[in-house]
Amino acid sequence: MTNALLRLLAVDHPIVQAPMAGTSSPAMAAEVSNAGGLGSLGLAAMGAEGARAAIAEFRDRSPRSLNVNVFCHATPKANPAIEAAWLDRLRPEFRRFDATPPASLRSLYTSFLADDAMLAVLAVAKPTVVSFHFGAPTEAQARALRQAGIVLVGTATSLDEGKKLALAGMQAIVAQGYEAGGHRGVFDPDGPDDRLTTFALTRVLAKALPVPVLAAGGIMDGAGIAAALRLGASAAQLGTAFVACPESLADAGHRAALMSDAANHTVMTRVISGRPARCLANRFTALAGGVQDGDVPRYPIAYDAGKQLDAAAKAKGEPGFGAQWAGQGAPMARALPAGRLVVELVAEMA
Ligand SMILES: Cc1cc2nc3c(=O)[nH]c(=O)nc-3n(C[C@H](O)[C@H](O)[C@H](O)COP(=O)(O)O)c2cc1C
Repeated sequence: MTNALLRLLAVDHPIVQAPMAGTSSPAMAAEVSNAGGLGSLGLAAMGAEGARAAIAEFRDRSPRSLNVNVFCHATPKANPAIEAAWLDRLRPEFRRFDATPPASLRSLYTSFLADDAMLAVLAVAKPTVVSFHFGAPTEAQARALRQAGIVLVGTATSLDEGKKLALAGMQAIVAQGYEAGGHRGVFDPDGPDDRLTTFALTRVLAKALPVPVLAAGGIMDGAGIAAALRLGASAAQLGTAFVACPESLADAGHRAALMSDAANHTVMTRVISGRPARCLANRFTALAGGVQDGDVPRYPIAYDAGKQLDAAAKAKGEPGFGAQWAGQGAPMARALPAGRLVVELVAEMA
């Protein structure tokens, strides 16, 4: 199905630069798309106005295809007792940096499921693709986007999620393995999780689903992309491979850790944001020891605490509390311009 997917996405190569909220940029996405891959923007941390501006900036830089990505998480219910206990647990960490935790926590991002303004912006801006993480859009949202001529792509971490996404009208599905960097796309972070690897999940979904599959997780070079295609994927989606690119919005601490021996150790944890995500092992992930899942406030309420702790630490020169998302292929990251990286990946595939 590779050729069908390339036609659907209007790209030359089966290479998708993963949408990475807070890390991908219009410049990165444009470089990738201009090189014949699919550039992506993670919109989850921006409101509708930010999304409109980011898409416009991409369009100033590239006439080619664009994927934009939104999060479909359940809007969290506040739990003041859990949140207060969590802030108490973090208090000694804040104190190390002469800071105090906030009195209470906010839910940082609006879910796309409840974001009419974002839907309106996307239906008008008409990016080539809208992709979804943490679940499927509502029926009405999917219909509105399809009517605008937009291709819909969902993220699955299991066959069950893949089937639900196909039924919800997704035209391609990202098979996100447990190796993957960043947030795990599981629909229900508290449900059972078989933690399927990219290899097994890609093969299972490619055999069972009627739509093309994009393999994601641990793919860093042309050999990895070629292997994913051999498993039945129609394309590969790479995130960590692009984090060290100059167009990335990753901060200096994240880049430095990724290009050091620290890249050899990643951890899946929910302590930073409230949902499982794969991060370079750092001082923040070290806090996960002894923490039960139920101790951590819901996503993205916990992220409010995580971002404030990171800011307090950074202000004192400590980068180790950042959300340094990275997949298990992190030691293979390259600090190349994003367009150059796509050219290299294509050459390596051949
Ligand atoms: C820094 C970072 C941020 C990410 N943010 C998002 C996001 O906003 N939306 C999304 O669907 N996936 C996000 N992901 C996950 C990617 O879509 C993809 O599944 C993952 O990067 C694949 O694994 P890899 O990092 O080993 O290539 C992110 C990954 C990273 C590394």
